Amino acid sequence: MVKIRVLQRVLVTGGAGFIGSNFVRHLLAARPAVTIVDLDALTYAGSRENLRDLPDPDRHQFVHGDITDRALVDRLLAEHAIDTIVHFAAESHVDRSITGPGAFVQTNVVGTFTLLDAARAAWRGRDPGGVRFHHVSTDEVYGSLAPDAAPVAEGAAYAPRSPYAASKAASDHLVRAYATTYGLPVTISNCSNNYGPYQFPEKLIPLMIVNGVLGKPLPVYGDGLQVRDWLHVDDHCAAIVAIVERGRPGATYHVGGGNQPTNLELVGRLCALLDARLPASPHRPHAGLITHVVDRPGHDRRYDLDCGLIERELGWRPRHDLATGLAATVDWYLAAGAWLAAIRDSDDFRRWLTLNYADRGAGAP
Ligand code: NAD
Ligand code: TYD
Repeated sequence: MVKIRVLQRVLVTGGAGFIGSNFVRHLLAARPAVTIVDLDALTYAGSRENLRDLPDPDRHQFVHGDITDRALVDRLLAEHAIDTIVHFAAESHVDRSITGPGAFVQTNVVGTFTLLDAARAAWRGRDPGGVRFHHVSTDEVYGSLAPDAAPVAEGAAYAPRSPYAASKAASDHLVRAYATTYGLPVTISNCSNNYGPYQFPEKLIPLMIVNGVLGKPLPVYGDGLQVRDWLHVDDHCAAIVAIVERGRPGATYHVGGGNQPTNLELVGRLCALLDARLPASPHRPHAGLITHVVDRPGHDRRYDLDCGLIERELGWRPRHDLATGLAATVDWYLAAGAWLAAIRDSDDFRRWLTLNYADRGAGAP
């Protein structure tokens, strides 16, 4: 019989980012008694605009600050009597980890350590059943899978290859070390690629939608035959709620969508959706904008998670199918007017496009 924890006062880190803001929205709607303290440094990837449509904003308190600030984290845990930490805050983009790895070590490794150590101090003497540290991680810690390799199950050896994946792997190891050494009640989820509303348009799906609408090239790295597993962000949020409420302390759960198109197939599907949604566009057929560009260094070929454990133990499985989820995501970005324009037209984003794409060859944006 699985014991159910009742969530009360939750610290969400990175709750102004893509998945974190969707999680805040999801949790407020799903659990009417929960209050949330949302700690976010508002890096380029975070914005209070991502939290503009919360269902019950009075139960959400935003704190602008850094997870590496130990005094601030100590204060928040004590003042709000936090019983659950859901840790999303991270530098999250592989390409940025190639051009600037230092921030990834600082936030993903040092930041996770800071939170763990603060939780250990704050929860000393507490009933371990009453508190929980949930760490949100990625399938990228397992490295690149051969085309015929079986899906990866929990407990497989780590083999990270990008600075991003290595920093997330390091943080996962620290979380497990705090459980083993100090008895901190932790859970970890390793999740596949998320998509949905509020994703920063540096990532594959929103970048292709944004460029497609503007008639700009759709830069596909290398041959485009790399494979990712795609999960709707709302399914990820539901999995995390299931894990923090009913997951075994110390356990790791894999979370994936069971959708594995090649990048080229996925971009083709987005182009078809844009063709259908924008019948008067001069850029139809949008697939004509697809441009193969120089590959990402060390580009992982394939990820694939075995998600049997979370289904068997917690009854979680994804509810969104890829066709419906992608169509809804395209519609969301088509209607995202001011939100999108603020990012797209910012100097910071333009600088990123130049830094990442200028040397990739003809046709890069
Ligand atoms: P994101 O880049 O959209 O958001 C990250 C958020 O963290 C931002 O709001 C940013 O301001 C905040 N942040 C960054 N550094 C911080 C710091 N030092 N202190 C406080 N806040 C800070 O990322 P995302 O895509 O929402 O990913 C969230 C988490 O999920 C990450 O841990 C990531 O590794 C993991 N994950 C993401 C995916 C995916 O497909 N996006 C898949 C699996 C796992
Ligand atoms: P991305 O969204 O950056 O996520 P991740 O690297 O964490 O999987 O990229 C998804 C896939 O799309 C990945 O194989 C790299 C590829 N990609 C492109 O082909 N072109 C692009 O412009 C971007 C951003 C990604």
